[in-house]
Amino acid sequence: MFKTRIAQLLAGALTEEGIDAEEIKLLLEIPPNPTLGDYALPCFGLAKRLRMAPNKIAAQLAEAIAEDAWLAKVEVVGGYLNLFLEPSCYIAEVLGAVLTQGNRYGSGEEEGNIVIDFSSPNIAKPFSIGHLPSTVIGHSLARIYRHLGFNVVRINHLGDWGTQFGKLMVAYHRWGEDQAIETKGIKELLRLYVKYHQVAEEDPELDNEARAWFKGLEDGDAEAVRLWEWFRALSLQEFERVYRRMGIEFDSYLGESFYNDKMDEVLKTIIEAGIATASEGALVVDVGDDIPPCLLKKSDGATLYATRDITAAIYRWNQWKFVKSLYVVGVTQSLHFDQVFRVLNLLGHHWAQRCQHVPFGTILFGDEAMSTRRGNVIFLEDVLEEAVTRIRTVIAARNPDLADPDGVAKQVGIGAVIFNALAHSRIKDTEFDWEKVISLEGDSGPYVQYAYARGRSVLAKAEETDEAGFAPQALTDPEALAVIRLLERFPEVVRGAAEKDEPSLIARYCLDLAAAFNTFYHARRILGVDDTTQTARLALVRGVCQVLEIGLYLLGLEAPEEM
Ligand code: ARG
Repeated sequence: MFKTRIAQLLAGALTEEGIDAEEIKLLLEIPPNPTLGDYALPCFGLAKRLRMAPNKIAAQLAEAIAEDAWLAKVEVVGGYLNLFLEPSCYIAEVLGAVLTQGNRYGSGEEEGNIVIDFSSPNIAKPFSIGHLPSTVIGHSLARIYRHLGFNVVRINHLGDWGTQFGKLMVAYHRWGEDQAIETKGIKELLRLYVKYHQVAEEDPELDNEARAWFKGLEDGDAEAVRLWEWFRALSLQEFERVYRRMGIEFDSYLGESFYNDKMDEVLKTIIEAGIATASEGALVVDVGDDIPPCLLKKSDGATLYATRDITAAIYRWNQWKFVKSLYVVGVTQSLHFDQVFRVLNLLGHHWAQRCQHVPFGTILFGDEAMSTRRGNVIFLEDVLEEAVTRIRTVIAARNPDLADPDGVAKQVGIGAVIFNALAHSRIKDTEFDWEKVISLEGDSGPYVQYAYARGRSVLAKAEETDEAGFAPQALTDPEALAVIRLLERFPEVVRGAAEKDEPSLIARYCLDLAAAFNTFYHARRILGVDDTTQTARLALVRGVCQVLEIGLYLLGLEAPEEM
């Protein structure tokens, strides 16, 4: 908010040169060290346009704006103009905004639909930790965009179609038992799937059988359809249980199978557009010399993952006329999305540019990347369970008097797993390290939640005071100011996270704010000081809790009142 104001002020002194506030805003920097001011304008870029040395420009600007009430002082250092805000104006403005806007702080009034395809696990396969990043990044992005005002459509593009169902049906007919499947669910289907691959290595005949079963499914064979529906229902039940635990919801579960009866028409337009080549019954589209062509139909007539994605993209456009359509899917599928978007472009769909793959790296658990085929799968649900158990012990040791230790352990344990998957830039591979995940001291979810709970418990102990009328002069100590500076940045951080589709920016921000708050908390007494100071410090604590609460919410974590 100050950035805009400062930019306007500086632009006012530069109107004759035709430089406006937007341009200045882009130039304004936050100096790495507060002794260099709250903002700094590097004048080097302006020198050529104004035909003046950078330090001259800085000096002229300094003179023109020095009298402004919001500025405590301005300094020219080299080609930089360093601006120091009048602390009490600044404090009153920032903290005032947080307290009056409440949970709307940092929100926006953007319009339009944003479609987010995320989580999208595969039916009859376990919901493994491999799907954790997509699930939590997508969910967080949905909340971030919604906070900014967009209408968000959360889509679970279930992998409920494909040749793997043929394999599973073969395995079921050879080794399956209804009873075991009913009681053990996906774990039993996984056992069958793994067994199939072991046996198929020796006996390639299995793959032919599997193809036949899948063809049967596509042609509506009663037994194949019955099995498919059964496996799908079983899987959905398990997925939904995991989502419920994580507090995650979808607006649509339109999976791949939904597009079965819609692909023919799309294939027809592709052929009519003259962008496809047929060879031996198969259909492919050349999408450029730099990447392989996109296969849309095999010679046996079967459609592919890409065929369904192209059809789904068109369906989504017709349905929602989105401003953006995001696909939160691992980086290993970059080529696939590149091909799909290029086909859409070749079809002349101008909105193809609004489709975007949001890739992420792999979570390494121990040393093994996860693989369904090998069967050494780590179930997401087991990880969540384990996190809750571990956190329960940690919390019980620290705070034996908690009113609801189980409830808190759930909030914090699940939050720890979510936060860990969001705390680094998404494209990086990461190792899942229990020590780090549940640590109350490190860069973890529990650390942020603990800061929030600490703030809430101070507020709970205080008597009602008129925090809205707080005295900003009482918050000019360096520890309080450091907190205020962070509070000011929050709206910008939320926008940046949306622009880059990077929830980690909010996670990092929450860690910084929690750390600054802890420093303040240890350095300054909050309760039992003179009234004016106490009221002001309580206002600051409330502001911190408010922003942490929004930040945690945007990441998909809960904010425990005590822990
Ligand atoms: N089911 C796929 C997988 O598990 C992810 C689907 C992503 N979404 C999409 N529209 N392709 O790898």
